[in-house]
Amino acid sequence: MNLIIIYSISILTLVLYGEMIMGSCDVKLEGSLLKDVVEILLKKDSDKGCALFNRKKIPAFSAAMTKSKSLSSKEIIKFNKVFTNIQNGYNPSTGIFTAPIAGVYQFSSVVMSDNGKFLVATLWLNDTVVSSVYIKGSAYQTGALSMILDVQKGDQIAVKSYGNYVIYSDSLNYSTFSGSLISQ
Ligand SMILES: *[C@@H]1O[C@H](CO)[C@@H](O)[C@H](O)[C@H]1NC(C)=O
Ligand SMILES: *[C@@H]1O[C@H](CO)[C@@H](O)[C@H](O)[C@H]1NC(C)=O
Repeated sequence: MNLIIIYSISILTLVLYGEMIMGSCDVKLEGSLLKDVVEILLKKDSDKGCALFNRKKIPAFSAAMTKSKSLSSKEIIKFNKVFTNIQNGYNPSTGIFTAPIAGVYQFSSVVMSDNGKFLVATLWLNDTVVSSVYIKGSAYQTGALSMILDVQKGDQIAVKSYGNYVIYSDSLNYSTFSGSLISQ
């Protein structure tokens, strides 16, 4: 009888300990026997309990321009209206996203040219141009930038005008800049 109680308490302790580990994104136990045992007991995949993939914790932002702006060469486009800014990596007063944690991120931007005008815009990672978009339409035209980048904590991502251009936008929020962590 006593043996059964001790056995039950041991299993319960192990399960509770397992829940703590699984819920904390702790990778130190990777490949350990304890992790395997805990996974079998909990009948779950360790990734599912990872607390990082939580809507309050995963860095993600989306911002739009609500009006047109005339920019000079290499000037950062400030997407003034913030829709999402989890972990506050995006700063609307500078237009720069600073990675709060290292990881693989997806970045995208849609920019609209002024009526019949050229627009060349570039996506920057710190001091390097990563990708560009070239638009020349007979009217207003949109172009898109989209990249997946492996960045370090503190790296800065922004969209800049490549020359003296007007970035068009209005209350329909045509021009936007977004990014989100995909994986750590
Ligand atoms: C990018 O710039 C930030 C801010 O100046 C700096 O902390 C970081 O080390 C830079 N990253 C690389 C890869 O140069
Ligand atoms: C554009 O953004 C503004 C500011 O957040 C918002 O009030 C407006 O509804 C947005 N426009 C559209 C078409 O969603």
